[in-house]
Amino acid sequence: MDLLVVGSGFFGLTIAERAASAGKKVVVIDRRNHIGGNAYSEAEPETGIEVHRYGAHLFHTSNETVWEYANRFTEFTSYVHKVYSNFKGEVYPLPINLGTINQFFRSAYSPDEARALIAEQAGEFDTKSAQNLEEKGISLIGRPLYEAFIRDYTSKQWQTPTTELPAEIISRLPVRYTYDNRYFNDTHEGLPVNGYTAWLEKMADHPNIEVRLNTDFFDESQPLNKAAVAGKVPVVYTGPVDRYFDYAEGELGWRTLDFEQQVLPVGDFQGTSVMNYAGEDVPYTRIHEFRHFHPERDYPTDKTVIMHEYSRFAKREDEPYYPVNTPEDRERLLKYRALTEQESGVLFGGRLGTYQYLDMHMAIGSALSMWNNKLEGTL
Ligand code: FDA
Repeated sequence: MDLLVVGSGFFGLTIAERAASAGKKVVVIDRRNHIGGNAYSEAEPETGIEVHRYGAHLFHTSNETVWEYANRFTEFTSYVHKVYSNFKGEVYPLPINLGTINQFFRSAYSPDEARALIAEQAGEFDTKSAQNLEEKGISLIGRPLYEAFIRDYTSKQWQTPTTELPAEIISRLPVRYTYDNRYFNDTHEGLPVNGYTAWLEKMADHPNIEVRLNTDFFDESQPLNKAAVAGKVPVVYTGPVDRYFDYAEGELGWRTLDFEQQVLPVGDFQGTSVMNYAGEDVPYTRIHEFRHFHPERDYPTDKTVIMHEYSRFAKREDEPYYPVNTPEDRERLLKYRALTEQESGVLFGGRLGTYQYLDMHMAIGSALSMWNNKLEGTL
């Protein structure tokens, strides 16, 4: 074995694929019972509808290198993501755009009129001196839109009133003064034609790659554990950085999500893939309906799969999803970074290994950079 990769998500598989294609023997271990990390998807058994087990995953990128690389393993559909928000029993398009504004204010503003209105409403607070997330939100889009679409949704995500959340959580709140409600602005967008798992399996399908599932790097009863491989084989580690160092500098904070999946006896529940619930009247943040990600597929017309999403702070045993990133977290992260630099023979990558939110294209792009800059020619 020339390289051990810990974690079979997009980061780990990109490293493994590049190394294998360069003639190196790679073993990928993952503690889960499936490949692919959080991008994993599977067919719901009763309906055959593809479900993203760890939350909805939409592929989008403006990075030509990543797009070309991804297309070696899968084709993409022409799916374009759009999101809607249910606020007080009325449905509005997101991100906030001219359609949202005109529907909300029961008006027919032109782009310039809408811009002037929002600027006036946003004048209540100065963005630079905003003391908390609420003041910052109002300073960006004005109180009416902030209270409708941001306040309760954000406090549900963080289980904390927005007046008690730091202003830095949001840097900007995009408002479009056109009717364009395409969710992503990237050059390329689509979903893998045969699903995420087929894409991820194709990346791992190489004679030089061996994947071992149900294999935890810290489990000393399996031969490729941390102590056993130290100094003997180069490692790319994509698990949580604090766990690697046995939480020596304390735990890094994460938010997690709870998902409740249901099969319903209707052909179409909500007419779209993702509906946000902006208000506090319901505890969940969103409902996903997976059939709408693949309108081109021959799914049953009398059944559908929906998933309610709830957000909360993660405990150690929960799946870490989004870094909380408090000032204390950032301090701890600096200490962990210093430790990673001293750890010879081990490179840390991916969203868990670097404690940052990464979209799939960013995970792939950063793995390609690690391969080009740190691994190629050294193994
Ligand atoms: P990832 O978490 O996928 O993989 C890490 C792997 O390491 C896991 O399989 C884990 O089991 C394994 N591991 C950890 N510790 C281990 C140990 N001790 N031993 C062995 N294995 C271990 N992106 C996007 O582009 N569009 C989108 O719409 C979304 N949507 C989205 C929704 C939600 C809810 C989340 C949380 C994330 C997204 N993403 C996304 C981001 C996407 O999931 C992310 O880019 C990739 O998962 C990153 O891949 P990694 O390989 O870095 O981590």
